[in-house]
Amino acid sequence: MVLFELQNVSKHFGGLQVVKDLSLAVEKNEIVSLIGPNGAGKTTVLNLITGLYKPDAGKILFDGRPLSGMDVHQITRLGIARTFQNLRLFLNMSIIENVMSAAYSRTSANWFQIIARTGGFWKEEQRIRQLAEQKLAFFGERLVGYRYDQPAYSLSYANRRRLEIARAMMTEPKLLLLDEPAAGMNPKETQEITHLIGRLRDELDLTIILIEHDMGVVGGISDRVIALDHGEKIAEGNFDAVATDPLVIEAYLGRNENMVRK
Ligand SMILES: Nc1ncnc2c1ncn2[C@@H]1O[C@H](COP(=O)(O)OP(=O)(O)O)[C@@H](O)[C@H]1O
Ligand SMILES: [Mg+2]
Repeated sequence: MVLFELQNVSKHFGGLQVVKDLSLAVEKNEIVSLIGPNGAGKTTVLNLITGLYKPDAGKILFDGRPLSGMDVHQITRLGIARTFQNLRLFLNMSIIENVMSAAYSRTSANWFQIIARTGGFWKEEQRIRQLAEQKLAFFGERLVGYRYDQPAYSLSYANRRRLEIARAMMTEPKLLLLDEPAAGMNPKETQEITHLIGRLRDELDLTIILIEHDMGVVGGISDRVIALDHGEKIAEGNFDAVATDPLVIEAYLGRNENMVRK
C-alpha cells in the first residue's frame, strides 16, 4: 500500500530551480533513502513534505490525501514528523522538557482551552511526561533517569541527534523524515543509529524517509534508494544498483564529494 507520494513536484527560489518535476512513492513500512551531493535538494524535499515550503507545482499525497493548503501543524497532526539537519533543540532546557515540548505543538490550537476548561493541567502534564519518558526509553539507558533533568547542552553530539529523534516521536507519526541522523557521529554511534532506525520501523510500525550521506547507514537499512542531483531524480532502486550507478558517482565527483562510509 502506498502511504506517501510526490507527483511532479517542483520548487524554485528566485532563479534557482531546486526541485524539478520530482515524483516518488513510498510504501507503508518502507525505509526509503534520499541521497545526493550537497545542494541536490534533499532537505528542500522534506521542507515541502512538512509544509514549511509550498510547491510551485505538483501534488503531495499522504494516505491518499492531498496536503496542499495545509500548514505545518495540520500536517504534523496527520502523522508526519521530522528531524532537522541542524538540530532544533532547546539547549538550555532539560532533556525531558525538550521532548515534552514537542507534544505541545501537536495540540497547540486547543491545548490551553482544554486544560483551562477541565482544570486538567497537572494531569495533562503527567500524561505528556509519561509519553516523553516512554519515547526516551527507546534509546536505552543513555537518555533516562538522572539524565532527564540535565540541560540538553550537556549532551554529546550523538545524544543530541537521538534527542532530536525522540522529539519527533512525540507526535506519534506514521511517517518519519530523518535529515542526516548520523552526521557527526563516530563509526560505533553510526552503527547504533542504523540499528535504531530499523527498530523504529519494526517496533513502532513507522514508514521512514531517510536523508543520509553515510553509505554504511543507507546500505544497511534502505529498502530502496533514490538519488537526486540538481533537484532531479537521477537513479532509483536497491542500494547496490544506485550506489554504483554512473550518474550517481558522477554527481558526487562533480561536487568533489565522497559517499562517506565510516
Ligand atoms: N529557503 C531557501 N531560499 C533560497 N535558496 C534555498 C532555500 N532553501 C534551499 N535553497 C537552495 O536550494 C538548494 C538545495 O538545498 P537543500 O535542499 O538544502 O540541499 P541538500 O539538502 O540536498 O544539501 C541549494 O542550492 C540551497 O542553497
Ligand atoms: Mg540537506
